[in-house]
Amino acid sequence: MNRAIHQIQRTGLVVDRDGDEQPAFPVSMSAEEGQEMGEVLDQMGARRTLEVGLAYGMSTLHICEAIRDKPDARHIAIDPFQTTEFDGIGLLNLERARLRHLLDFYEEPSHERLPKLLSARVELDFALIDGAHLFDCAFVDFFYVDKILRPGGVVCMDDT
Ligand SMILES: C[S@@+](CC[C@H](N)C(=O)[O-])C[C@H]1O[C@@H](n2cnc3c(N)ncnc32)[C@H](O)[C@@H]1O
Repeated sequence: MNRAIHQIQRTGLVVDRDGDEQPAFPVSMSAEEGQEMGEVLDQMGARRTLEVGLAYGMSTLHICEAIRDKPDARHIAIDPFQTTEFDGIGLLNLERARLRHLLDFYEEPSHERLPKLLSARVELDFALIDGAHLFDCAFVDFFYVDKILRPGGVVCMDDT
């Protein structure tokens, strides 16, 4: 397991640039969820992935760790509140884990970024929807993700 993931799971804490700690859970997905998602990504041989909802980067770490050795692997993450609500800790955790180079991050709402990805003809193997947990937001996320996924691609919706 990646050391950064292990550290967060062991302590239950994330650390900002100044060394201040914050609880990682329940915002972040659990170890079991992350492991299961990683197994799905492995089985699929996924290399083009996306998530809505970066937060402290726990799901991002699991996804990037699973795709890191695939040719041309890229992960897209969308979250409008990384700076304002999460002190940039998600991106910092990706840097600490040496996985930041795999990530294209967009600090904007998913309903603004997903249509642009569709227009750009992005094609994905896998998407995690874990952004705003309101029906209309999750529904719009699914609407666009469904169009961006390749045939046979997999979508995972938190909290299922
Ligand atoms: C439950 S947290 C994500 C947890 C993360 N997936 C993990 O397991 O480590 C939900 C995230 O959705 C983000 N979010 C809220 N509204 C959003 C929107 N309109 N578009 C994209 N992300 C949004 C929040 O800023 C927050 O980081």
